[in-house]
Amino acid sequence: MSAHARPAGARAPVTVPRLHEMKAAGEKIVALTAYDASFAALCDAAGVDVVLVGDSLGMVVQGHASTLPVTVDDMVYHTAAVARGVRTALLVADLPFLSFRDADTALRSSARLLAEGGAAMVKLEGADYVLEAIAALARRSIPVCAHLGLTPQSVHKLGGYRVQGKTKPAAERLLADARAVQDAGADLLVLECVPAALAGRIRSELAIPTIGIGAGADCDGQVLVLYDMLGITSGKRPKFSKDFLAGRGSVLEAIRAYAEAVRGGAFPAAEHAF
Ligand code: KIV
Repeated sequence: MSAHARPAGARAPVTVPRLHEMKAAGEKIVALTAYDASFAALCDAAGVDVVLVGDSLGMVVQGHASTLPVTVDDMVYHTAAVARGVRTALLVADLPFLSFRDADTALRSSARLLAEGGAAMVKLEGADYVLEAIAALARRSIPVCAHLGLTPQSVHKLGGYRVQGKTKPAAERLLADARAVQDAGADLLVLECVPAALAGRIRSELAIPTIGIGAGADCDGQVLVLYDMLGITSGKRPKFSKDFLAGRGSVLEAIRAYAEAVRGGAFPAAEHAF
C-alpha cells in the first residue's frame, strides 16, 4: 500500500467540493473547533466533517477576555498541532485580528496557515474592506470561509457579544454582505448569532454552504466551540450551545452524539436559537 492509499472502508477526506456537494444533497455539515492533536483526533474519529482551529483559543485556551490578543504565530502553532491529529476532516484555520487588514497581509498570513500549519482553508471575519482580501485569496486558490453576524474580533465596536441582524435594515445589510462574500470568492460562510429566520433566508439565497452557530437549524451545517459542548467553558455556557458530555462516558461519545444530533436535525433545537 502506498503512503497515500486509503484502507478499505475508511472515510474519504472531506474536501471543499465535497462541502458544496453536501449542500446540494441536503446533507448537514458537522463542524467543531479543536486546538490540539488529541482533541482533533477525537473529532476526526467521531466523523466530524470540518475541524476549525478558531481564534476562540484566545479565550478558551489562553484565558483572555477576547480573541484580540491571538497572533498569527499562535494560530500556526495550534493549526500544526491539530493537523497532526486530523486524517479526514477538512482543516480550517482562523485568520486572527488584523492579520487580513489588507490583501497582501492576508496572503502572507494565510500562506503561513497553509504551508506551516497544514490548513486547507482560512476563515476571516467581516465583509466591506475584507472583500478585497477574500478576492485576493480566492484568485490564488486559497479556500476561504467568511464569517458574518457576531464577529468577535469587532467586540468593542459591537458593544459586546450580541445577536446581530435583528432589525430590518441590519438584516438586509447582513444579507447583502453574505452575497458580497460569496461573490468575492468565499467557499463557505459561518453565521454567528443571527436570528434563525434570517439565517434560513441567507442559506436559501446562497450557493455556498452556511455553517451556523447560534443561527438556528436552517443552515447547511453547525459548528460549536469544543469546550462549550463538553461543558468545560468557564462561566455561563452560551444559550446556543449544549453540553453533550453530560450523561455520557467519554469525549468521543459526546462528539459522536453531537455529530448525530446535527445530522439528524435534533440540534440545534428551538431553545438554542434566536
Ligand atoms: O473562533 C471560533 O471558534 C469561531 C467559531 C465560533 C465559529 O469563529
